[in-house]
Amino acid sequence: MIKSMSTVHELLSKADNISLLDSQLILGSVLGCSRTWIIAHHNDVVCEKIQKNFLSKLKRRMGGEPIAYILGYREFWSQNFLVDRNTLIPRPETECMVEIALEQLPNTPTTVLDLGTGCGAIGITLATERGNWHIIANDISGSALKVAQRNAFNTKNIAFFRGNWCEAIRPGSINLIVCNPPYIERNDNHLNHLEYEPLSALVSPDRGLYDLRQVIKESRSLLVKDGLLILEHGYLQRDKVYQLLHNHGYINIEMFDDLSGKPRIALARFR
Ligand SMILES: C[S@@+](CC[C@H](N)C(=O)[O-])C[C@H]1O[C@@H](n2cnc3c(N)ncnc32)[C@H](O)[C@@H]1O
Repeated sequence: MIKSMSTVHELLSKADNISLLDSQLILGSVLGCSRTWIIAHHNDVVCEKIQKNFLSKLKRRMGGEPIAYILGYREFWSQNFLVDRNTLIPRPETECMVEIALEQLPNTPTTVLDLGTGCGAIGITLATERGNWHIIANDISGSALKVAQRNAFNTKNIAFFRGNWCEAIRPGSINLIVCNPPYIERNDNHLNHLEYEPLSALVSPDRGLYDLRQVIKESRSLLVKDGLLILEHGYLQRDKVYQLLHNHGYINIEMFDDLSGKPRIALARFR
């Protein structure tokens, strides 16, 4: 119930089963204030309109909706990326992919393809970190691309287009391909915790390997000689992905763990 006069402290105490951090972030977003401000103004009174807005967002969070969709953004590589229900929420493990990509090639003219860009987190981060690289980013979802384009409003060296993996890209034109494709099996229990995110960004047929296989197969013709492919995959797919890369003629295959020590990233060269 909404009291006409509630303080910041009273509102925050209505949160149940979610972290204090989340409720402070939600209140900060409806007030347009930082978390530090919230902490310093516990006894300030909040008007009825803000209370209503806060309580409705709090209810969504207590119902299990990810905080990123409620706030409308997620931090990735220290930049806030807009997200909505059409985009996957970028994950910290994907930052490892970015790190590996940046280690591979210097800041000299390089053409990079970000396949399945979602909200644009990988492609835009690479474009920001490497001003001399030219990034091309695609996605099959037009709605996700709209979000990515908004995130890139300040980024000159990236271009987006709608496409199905490697279709419509000039053969032999790409130095580096990065891709975090859908790789979860349809009946995987993890999906129960991911119900708010688009299934088309998460699920792939053939035990989660269909899209990985397509990207591995199709990327070959796009890469220049010695071009690189970096893939994110499920933590139980390491050996299968290695085998697929090997069977499709890639060399110098390296498999990397994410920050929690799970095998999640593959790097390979195509000659
Ligand atoms: C796991 S999400 C990754 C999103 C983003 N790159 C990230 O790492 O946060 C997979 C993305 O691939 C896109 N996708 C799925 N099938 C595709 C296809 N056939 N061609 C291009 N993109 C596709 C989805 O729409 C989704 O945005």
